[in-house]
Amino acid sequence: MLMPRLGLIGALTWNFSIRLSELLSLGRERWWWQMHAALRREFRGLNPNKMVLNMRGPYHVDSLAYGETPALSFLKILDTLQLPAGSQIVDLGSGRGVPCLTAAAARGYKALGLEYFAVYTERAQRVAERHGWPAQFVSGNFLRRPLPAAQLYFISATAFPEELRQQLLELLQQVPAGSWVVCQDWVLEAPFELDRMQQLPVSWGIAKICYHRRLP
Ligand SMILES: C[S@@+](CC[C@H](N)C(=O)[O-])C[C@H]1O[C@@H](n2cnc3c(N)ncnc32)[C@H](O)[C@@H]1O
Repeated sequence: MLMPRLGLIGALTWNFSIRLSELLSLGRERWWWQMHAALRREFRGLNPNKMVLNMRGPYHVDSLAYGETPALSFLKILDTLQLPAGSQIVDLGSGRGVPCLTAAAARGYKALGLEYFAVYTERAQRVAERHGWPAQFVSGNFLRRPLPAAQLYFISATAFPEELRQQLLELLQQVPAGSWVVCQDWVLEAPFELDRMQQLPVSWGIAKICYHRRLP
């Protein structure tokens, strides 16, 4: 998803600057090069923004709008949370899989990406398998399946309309007490407690990262 106010040139410049700052911070890390090279190879010829726009038309993209949380931003979230080794992470709406692949490749966490489009999950799965990273991707509507137990649920909710948020909130009642639910641009109500907020760059601008704990 691109914020209209960024415009095409603004969006390209913004994403170039994100990639440059990643290069400066993560350029010495092998997994980072491997992840981007494999994503480039797998997603060659598939532009998620264009795919969704063609499918839905510009005024009906809603929750399927595409956008990405860069590796560096997701690492900041992981560093903030300091989850125990081997923790399970679930990304609800995992797109091309960057957050899950980053968590699995850089920190060894087990990651599960739930994503509507099989064209994303199949390719992201091949990236994980190629490098033996503990990430799994499953296609389909995340509202239609039970949520597995995890230490962290990540939700890029910026473009999710109110109706989807209400359905998701019902689904999230299942998550274990004490687990983290980290949402972009969405503050949850009880039984979730807002622990802190942070602003981080994402492909469509700056997202408010809202960290919640599931209360007992
Ligand atoms: C903004 S993208 C975020 C991708 C990824 N989480 C990231 O941060 O890089 C949101 C994704 O949620 C997916 N999505 C939206 N509604 C969904 C649903 N009901 N079930 C599964 N995936 C969904 C969209 O297809 C899209 O790929």
